[in-house]
Amino acid sequence: MDAGSDFVDRKVIVTGAAAGIGRAIARRFAQAGARVACLDLNAPALARTAEEIGAETGAQIVSLVADVSREDATSRAVDDAVSAMGGLDVLVNNAGIVILQRFDETPIEDWDRTFATNLRSMFLMARAALPALRRSGAGAIVNIASIAAYRYTVPHVPYATAKAGVVAFTRDLAVELAPDRIRVNAVAPGPIATEMLGKLTDEELGKAGRHYLLGRLGKPEDIAEAVAFLASERAAYVTGATLPVTGGAELASRPVRSEDR
Ligand SMILES: NC(=O)c1ccc[n+]([C@@H]2O[C@H](COP(=O)([O-])OP(=O)(O)OC[C@H]3O[C@@H](n4cnc5c(N)ncnc54)[C@H](O)[C@@H]3O)[C@@H](O)[C@H]2O)c1
Repeated sequence: MDAGSDFVDRKVIVTGAAAGIGRAIARRFAQAGARVACLDLNAPALARTAEEIGAETGAQIVSLVADVSREDATSRAVDDAVSAMGGLDVLVNNAGIVILQRFDETPIEDWDRTFATNLRSMFLMARAALPALRRSGAGAIVNIASIAAYRYTVPHVPYATAKAGVVAFTRDLAVELAPDRIRVNAVAPGPIATEMLGKLTDEELGKAGRHYLLGRLGKPEDIAEAVAFLASERAAYVTGATLPVTGGAELASRPVRSEDR
């Protein structure tokens, strides 16, 4: 698909950009002409991804090693990104972790770590980025929520609860930042084939996908496309929304067909 030139001269930060959905989002913006700052905790993976996207697209990629759950690290990373790129127009809060376990086996430390990485991080990043986004005059924040905010999927009570918090965070922030001409939206992915889904084989992934309405699991690029739309001027009248990009997974299961057996 042609990524177009929607983001020429726009400056974008993507968190959790070393792998999976974040990497696809960073690549999508770079393909559309943006300057991109990729932020991640995993330094070697981040270096590889930044080099790969830079070589593929010719875009200027800034690499920032930082833990999004820490206030000092996020404010330093945002300052470095803003000075390296000469401003900021778009913040994508994508970094997240999931810990799969039943509620009665979940220690409080896992609840805290899940909330710190998946929700506190968004507060910290948005606060740090606010002055630069205000200067943009057409700023946008896109947060990555999850289908888990809407329905039970697998055992991960802290994750689902934090992701429901992302939906409320997005809505309320949109109201408070509207006077600054900053739009705030979220994308809620369904199951997407990344490291987060574990070490499933291609065959297992294919089989799992048959349960979803559109007959397949999502790809990181499916999410990147929705994020690019919400961050672009094409979505100039959209704010406070959470867009499900789930292949319909929250609506119904796909009827089993003979070819699925
Ligand atoms: N994969 C799915 O099925 C799925 C479904 C719904 C929502 N999501 C959400 O999409 C986002 C991306 O998920 P993914 O599947 O690409 O995961 P992933 O594990 O493949 O990649 C996550 C990236 O975030 C980074 N990261 C983790 N903790 C960090 C921290 N404290 N500071 C900085 N970086 C950190 C990791 O190093 C990694 O590069 C997450 O918010 C996740 O909850 C994923």
